[in-house]
Amino acid sequence: MFVRRIAVVGTGYVGLTTGACLASLGHRVVCADVDPAKIDRLRDGEIGIREDGLADLVVEGMAAGRLSFVVGASAALEELAREGDPVEVVFLCVPTPMGVGGVADLGAVEAVLEETRAALPRGAVVVTKSTVPVGTAERTAELLGRDDVGIVSNPEFLREGTAVHDFLNPDRVVVGSSQQDAAERVAALYSRLGAPTVLTDATSAEMIKYSANCFLAMKLSYVNAIAELCERLDADIADVTEGIGYDRRIGQAFLAPGPGWGGSCLPKDTHALLQVADAADFEFRLLRATIDTNDRQRQRMVDKIRTMVTGKRGGSLSRRKLALFGLTFKAGTDDLRDSPALGVAALLKQAGAELVGYDPGVVGSGASIDANLVTVVDDPYLAAKDVAAIVILTEWPEFRQLDWRRLAGLSAGACVVDTRNLLDPDVLDRAGLTWAGVGRSART
Ligand code: UGA
Repeated sequence: MFVRRIAVVGTGYVGLTTGACLASLGHRVVCADVDPAKIDRLRDGEIGIREDGLADLVVEGMAAGRLSFVVGASAALEELAREGDPVEVVFLCVPTPMGVGGVADLGAVEAVLEETRAALPRGAVVVTKSTVPVGTAERTAELLGRDDVGIVSNPEFLREGTAVHDFLNPDRVVVGSSQQDAAERVAALYSRLGAPTVLTDATSAEMIKYSANCFLAMKLSYVNAIAELCERLDADIADVTEGIGYDRRIGQAFLAPGPGWGGSCLPKDTHALLQVADAADFEFRLLRATIDTNDRQRQRMVDKIRTMVTGKRGGSLSRRKLALFGLTFKAGTDDLRDSPALGVAALLKQAGAELVGYDPGVVGSGASIDANLVTVVDDPYLAAKDVAAIVILTEWPEFRQLDWRRLAGLSAGACVVDTRNLLDPDVLDRAGLTWAGVGRSART
């Protein structure tokens, strides 16, 4: 195997995972970030994010001399050059947040290109890993203005929380470029992983990334809509999704109904593709409906809570105290960005409810939540004292292990609204709790 000399710019969960995993595959990797305090912490092996197995890979990589951290993209290039051979591949893993009108903001990508343009050696390859608008590779080439440097799009398909596993066990590797040699060099970085590789042009690679995330979002909006219909028809969503999931064309994964999809990727990418479609004069109704269905889902959860707590549709939640179990956008992370749980919380607050929250990922993580929105406590039994309802908003498995009899005893007449269908109905029944899930008949 060739050992490549790689710079990874940006040490968020994508950049850090990419850097640490490429080092674990034997490559020499220098990771760069603009934040000096973050680089100091990384050098001490503190990764600052919740990612299974990542801290160990970072420490191992540094100990083996294959992984190091510097402040600034140009410093990464200098460090590799000092060792004797210049950089061969530069991965751009900087944020591309949703900017004005849903268009991805490419400011960070542009800044890195500006900073490294002159220092890139002839024959180097610049790889975009950040999710970027379709057409960015062409724009990158223009901005860089170097026809002796390869431009490749190599989108990531990492889920937060399981990014290391996903990197090392990919369903596929996608490499897009108009320069075949550059594309093949990037594809070879992953050859040890034995995954199917799609070699294509850069625009198609960028489309693959958006189409994948938007398809996943569409799958979830579809399931959430079917769950709503199940409630009206007295069918059970768990049996329905199991039944459709055995069809290999559909698959069992990504079929769990919930309070809507969120996080830092699916909302951003669905809006971005809608923008791309608009700009191409294509009315993407299916994607618009996917987003609208999701936006409605939070309100639907609030209506459900309202009905359960007050015993009637449209009853008032004013001054009703509610315990929210789970605040992160999904289990296994401490990430609160675009969290459906916080979206539901905001609507409950607007309706006058008093909110106490508990989340195993937030406890001790330093994540900050607006105290005017929800009072966060570090003990579920404290959160559930004297409440009208316990609302499950994130699918943390540990909620199943709680003492539900004890929780039931902490408030007179409390009910449970399980927006993730996480809990065992029999356990709730035995604890004497009335409950409602999503897409199945409530037991009251
Ligand atoms: C997503 C994609 O799954 C990754 O493949 C992609 O690489 C990543 O975005 C990205 O673009 O960087 P992630 O944002 O980590 O990954 O989260 P997911 O695990 O996809 O979950 C997204 C949302 O859907 C969460 O709110 C989650 O709770 C919800 N979800 C997921 C459900 O409601 N039901 C499910 O069955 C699965």
